[in-house]
Amino acid sequence: MRRAKISIIGAGNVGATTAHWCAAAELGDLVLVDVPQTEDMPRGKALDLMQSGPIVGFDARITGTTSYDDTAGSDVVVVTAGMTRKPGMSRDELLAVNARIVGSVAEQIKRTSPEAVVIVVSNPLDAMVQRTYQVTGFPPRRILGQAGVLDTARFRAFIAMELGVSVEDVSAMLLGGHGDTMVPLTSCAAVCGIPVAQLIPPERLAQIVRRTRDGGAEIVGLLKTGSAYYAPSAAVAQMVESVVRDKKRLLPCAAYCDKEYNVGGYYVGVPVILGSGGVERIVELPLTESERAAFQKSVEAVKNLVQKMEGLIG
Ligand code: LAC
Repeated sequence: MRRAKISIIGAGNVGATTAHWCAAAELGDLVLVDVPQTEDMPRGKALDLMQSGPIVGFDARITGTTSYDDTAGSDVVVVTAGMTRKPGMSRDELLAVNARIVGSVAEQIKRTSPEAVVIVVSNPLDAMVQRTYQVTGFPPRRILGQAGVLDTARFRAFIAMELGVSVEDVSAMLLGGHGDTMVPLTSCAAVCGIPVAQLIPPERLAQIVRRTRDGGAEIVGLLKTGSAYYAPSAAVAQMVESVVRDKKRLLPCAAYCDKEYNVGGYYVGVPVILGSGGVERIVELPLTESERAAFQKSVEAVKNLVQKMEGLIG
């Protein structure tokens, strides 16, 4: 059986660490791409990573390059290109600059890997996925964004820390954009099937929800020179695995919702079944009144962001 070809655009912290997780899980052959100004850097990272193979025990061809031609015919392309946040910056401040960067990356993907499933990670996430969809013109199911796997992982980690239980026993779901309006669903969070509301008092749970929403900014504030990358890239690797192994995992991802949840043609975070074709199904959950209102608010924030982007790039 042919190995999957996975290209990662942007060989910075998120891109290189995504390559690391994907290689360790033997998900396929990897191509790490960065802009020509970086010269040999992607080649250096790829070679270094490949030399960890004999120690860790994985077989993968890992190529570093500044040419999109090396990505030709990829099964999956991960887009991490763009600027990251500095302390105090919101994701939205990255809008204009990253819309241009991601737009030109999307043109290259369209040219070199027209059949790929594309996973976007660049921020502001919801607008960058929409941009990739607009520029490639790929079917919407083959374009999706990573945010929910990271945001629910933060939620799960905080719940596990609070209760002193294994993270493996904590599951959670989340809706909406990857921003201040994201909607962690406390009604869906559980420890081995036991709803968290039975284990954590409401005011403490509300604090955990707030910390989840601010999870990215908390890391930016601590790192001071960039944003999170271990957990975001582990989240991408989980999505890549679901695609290349056709696992059909149910994961929260930024997916194109038209009639679904009455969104009307925008990318927002929803539960999806992820398989070899990309988003195979969007799962519509029954929401409580307050969850529906919070989701609606988040969708409005995403729409405003996309409209602002369209105004900026003309
Ligand atoms: C975060 C950034 C990467 O949430 O959006 O950490």
